[in-house]
Amino acid sequence: MSTQALLKPYKSNNLDLKNRVVMAPMTRSRANNDGNIPTDELQGLYYEQRASAGLIITEGAQVSPRAVGYINTPGIHTEAQVEGWKKITKRVHDKGGKIFLQLWHVGRVSHPDFHNGELPLAPSAVNPHDDVYTNEGLKKTPTPKAMTVAEIKETVSDFKNAAKNAIEAGFDGVEIHSSNGYLFHQFFSSTTNLRTDEYGGSTENKARFFFEVLDAIKEVVPEEKIGARFNPSLNNVFGMTMDENSIPTFEYIIQKLNDYNLAYVHLSEPFTDVSDIPYAVTEIAKHFRPLYNGTLMINSGFTQEKGNKIIEAGYADLVSFGKLYISNPDLVERFENNLELADWDADTFYTPGTKGYTDYPKAEELQQV
Ligand SMILES: Cc1cc2nc3c(=O)[nH]c(=O)nc-3n(C[C@H](O)[C@H](O)[C@H](O)COP(=O)(O)O)c2cc1C
Repeated sequence: MSTQALLKPYKSNNLDLKNRVVMAPMTRSRANNDGNIPTDELQGLYYEQRASAGLIITEGAQVSPRAVGYINTPGIHTEAQVEGWKKITKRVHDKGGKIFLQLWHVGRVSHPDFHNGELPLAPSAVNPHDDVYTNEGLKKTPTPKAMTVAEIKETVSDFKNAAKNAIEAGFDGVEIHSSNGYLFHQFFSSTTNLRTDEYGGSTENKARFFFEVLDAIKEVVPEEKIGARFNPSLNNVFGMTMDENSIPTFEYIIQKLNDYNLAYVHLSEPFTDVSDIPYAVTEIAKHFRPLYNGTLMINSGFTQEKGNKIIEAGYADLVSFGKLYISNPDLVERFENNLELADWDADTFYTPGTKGYTDYPKAEELQQV
């Protein structure tokens, strides 16, 4: 067995993984067909190529037509989409891999072009002043519509339905995308949630929508197959601004998750330099590890060396890798053999087709040339 912490198997009450290397969720915008259906040829091959990861978390999949904010992202709300994903989970399982689906609602990071002219939904009418890629190119976000309580309840039920679909499609579990400035994060933040009803104001109220979704999903998916993702020190990205309430809100949520028996909590280290922000936490894993008793997965900016170190230090159980997984389908084998890693091409992150998607070779293929 490898001496590298990343390569040791991970077993908890809920997870049984062959190593601790996780493929982070990444939108690749290649479901460019009428029904936003992932296909065997494209997404099937892409995820199969990466099946040596201890766990794959898919790109965000919209839970309903109202959840969309990017072109060509796959959904998990129609029968055809479920059929599409079935082929993908099978390919990953056939290679001995495990795969969770990420459940996504962008909230205000969207445009009426995606919603038959209607405004995107958000906790409050606060414009992120962001750009969105539509079929007609980049467009400015409008001020979204503040959700009614009925729309909130409908969205809870969309998540429940999507989670049920994910299990039907053969996924080993689901991850709630409560991160990166999207719908849940918009509820958590005092700068984007100005509500005066039971979904705004106090910390408990700002977290209410998330826990209602989690409780609804629990009715159709065993708790131990549910993960949740958070980015507590997200600042000046995706229109989000931290304030003194941000970290206490995440502390409340993450501690409350001790009452659940989740597969894992997935946290990101800050995406930007927050060292000069007094109310930001600069070392997320270190700060939150003592607050959470379950499996903790950490992300953002990790290398092989940093990943091994953070597990050895006891601050995380699993490490998820994003961009490195785009360009190194055999990341685990490269870590095992301490091989050189390939660079990613950011120009093809979101472009259609196989280029920059399924054409990154494995190290063994390079040696054969
Ligand atoms: C092309 C691309 C798409 C992404 N899409 C998602 C997504 O759908 N859901 C999500 O939670 N994070 C998404 N992320 C963030 C990554 O999961 C990860 O947090 C980020 O890349 C930092 O990790 P890294 O330094 O290992 O790349 C995306 C990142 C990239 C580069």
